[in-house]
Amino acid sequence: DPKHDSTFTLTGFLIPTIIDTLQSKNYHFEDIWSQKVIHKGYGGVDWVEAGGPPAGAGCGGYVGGETVKLLKELNAFYQYDIILFDVLGDVVWGGFAAPLNYANYCLIITDNGFDALFAANPITASIKEKARTHPLPLTGLVGNPTSKKNLINKYVETCPMPVIKVLPLIENIPISRVKGKTLFEMVGSQPSLNYVCEYYLNITDQILSQPEGIV
Ligand SMILES: Nc1ncnc2c1ncn2[C@@H]1O[C@H](COP(=O)(O)OP(=O)(O)OP(=O)(O)O)[C@@H](O)[C@H]1O
Ligand SMILES: [Mg+2]
Repeated sequence: DPKHDSTFTLTGFLIPTIIDTLQSKNYHFEDIWSQKVIHKGYGGVDWVEAGGPPAGAGCGGYVGGETVKLLKELNAFYQYDIILFDVLGDVVWGGFAAPLNYANYCLIITDNGFDALFAANPITASIKEKARTHPLPLTGLVGNPTSKKNLINKYVETCPMPVIKVLPLIENIPISRVKGKTLFEMVGSQPSLNYVCEYYLNITDQILSQPEGIV
């Protein structure tokens, strides 16, 4: 994500981005070592943040494309059991869509609001486009956070896809963000958070079961 906050709960700080590193090396890919851009986080998870150009300058999509190119150069796509890409919902064109070329599944996360559901349209269109060259099943949709499902239900009626899970408003989620700790780390001292972890474990199980998804 250009905001480079996707990994904050796992690292506890804003890790240097790929674009910062590329800039410091005058965009010479060959001078970049994986230790410079791949960081270790909680639970033995490795993280990369693409970052973005300074606000109001440059093109974030270009950064996404360059990040994928660099990860390929570093052979990173073949070193892990599971790789998660956090792709911006409202802009999936050009470089932003580049990670989709390496994905086996796509999952849409949206609340029950009009804007987020509207942003799901370019995602589904982009998956359809990619399907011409690369099978990319859409696993479905996760509603988060929402106490109501009326617009989500209406959306999946028109654009059929499984609703994998719906998460209610959980006050400890923004707290985990501020603390820079995952819910899985917090549950150690707050066992009452176990039910929140169960939501995530359930979503994980569903994806790991290699669902057929929507092609
Ligand atoms: N289930 C939930 N209950 C309560 N708050 C939540 C829940 N899920 C996310 N939040 C909070 O909502 C805010 C936005 O969440 P988050 O940053 O994960 O969204 P995002 O989709 O990544 O946004 P963006 O598209 O801007 O990157 C954060 O403050 C987060 O802590
Ligand atoms: Mg985000």
